[in-house]
Amino acid sequence: MSGSGDIEPVRRLAVTGATGFVGGAVCRAATAAGWQVTAFGRRAAADDRHLGGAAYRSWDVGAAKLADPPDVDAVVHCAASPTGTGVAAEVWRTSLLGTHHVLVSFPDSRIVHVSSASVYDPFRPTVRAKEHEAPVSRYLSAYAAAKAAAERLVLAVADRPVVLRPHAVYGPGDPTLLPRLLRNVRAGRLPVPGHGRVLISMTAVGALARACLLAAAGPAAGVFNIADSEPVPVDWALRGLLASAGAEVRPVYVPAAWLAPVARVFPRGRVGRYVSSPFAMERTLDITAAIDRLGYEPAPTTFASP
Ligand SMILES: NC(=O)c1ccc[n+]([C@@H]2O[C@H](COP(=O)([O-])OP(=O)(O)OC[C@H]3O[C@@H](n4cnc5c(N)ncnc54)[C@H](OP(=O)(O)O)[C@@H]3O)[C@@H](O)[C@H]2O)c1
Repeated sequence: MSGSGDIEPVRRLAVTGATGFVGGAVCRAATAAGWQVTAFGRRAAADDRHLGGAAYRSWDVGAAKLADPPDVDAVVHCAASPTGTGVAAEVWRTSLLGTHHVLVSFPDSRIVHVSSASVYDPFRPTVRAKEHEAPVSRYLSAYAAAKAAAERLVLAVADRPVVLRPHAVYGPGDPTLLPRLLRNVRAGRLPVPGHGRVLISMTAVGALARACLLAAAGPAAGVFNIADSEPVPVDWALRGLLASAGAEVRPVYVPAAWLAPVARVFPRGRVGRYVSSPFAMERTLDITAAIDRLGYEPAPTTFASP
């Protein structure tokens, strides 16, 4: 693991959302590094291989704080309702109330909060965004608004926390990005807002897991964008993602310039969903802070199997 020398200090880690895509990758990376990991998910039981052999406990973070939290040095908080699905109340319950319960359950542990680049302004392109450019005042989805509120809570309450903002996380077991693309395929074509030359920052799930461990080990605190080394054109990313799933699909682009003003008026409608697509307009992140202060070592975007 890159930066593995830097991650020695943490021995006992808790991971929420461990049954999910990102949380599972964090568990596997941490147990591989020799850390003692307690994995939390909402479901009653979890696959041992998914967790890298970590001990598993069921906890609905939206319901209450943990009665008997394990004594851990750091918590990587990944639990959230996935983007684009679920009713707003459930999204807020998990993301904001759940984050509150994590904070009060582990008041003395280092908190690594996995947020999202969806906290940047959805109404205009995100161009090599620096961390101070978000949160903003208006969002198109409960997911983004709740992630922004959870960030604010963590930064206000926790002692020297780390907030990570990945964008378009991809890799084996992705339950969100690739399935969403495949759901929208019609007759071998994928309608995509915008045009294929627009740039996007993507985040490999393994790189995000490494960033979580670096953050857990400290000492840096603050907000960090996490992405692959360079942005890639949307068309290249879409074709690579779809090919990695064995899908013979051609992206077909729909001009997006007029969509943002319409989305302001009808944020919950089809156009609003279009504009909030990660592919609608430039969504690129400046990752200098993560490289300089976390010791994050980004790699180029690739959809080839590791
Ligand atoms: N995937 C992306 O492209 C992406 C991009 C940016 C940021 N993120 C952030 O990364 C984090 C992880 O996302 P992911 O892609 O790994 O999502 P995921 O695969 O859908 O996993 C979500 C996890 O949250 C847990 N969870 C949901 N509601 C819960 C509740 N009420 N109590 C306890 N646990 C609950 C789920 O547990 P069960 O499965 O047991 O119900 C699951 O472990 C999230 O914070 C997300 O906002 C993801």
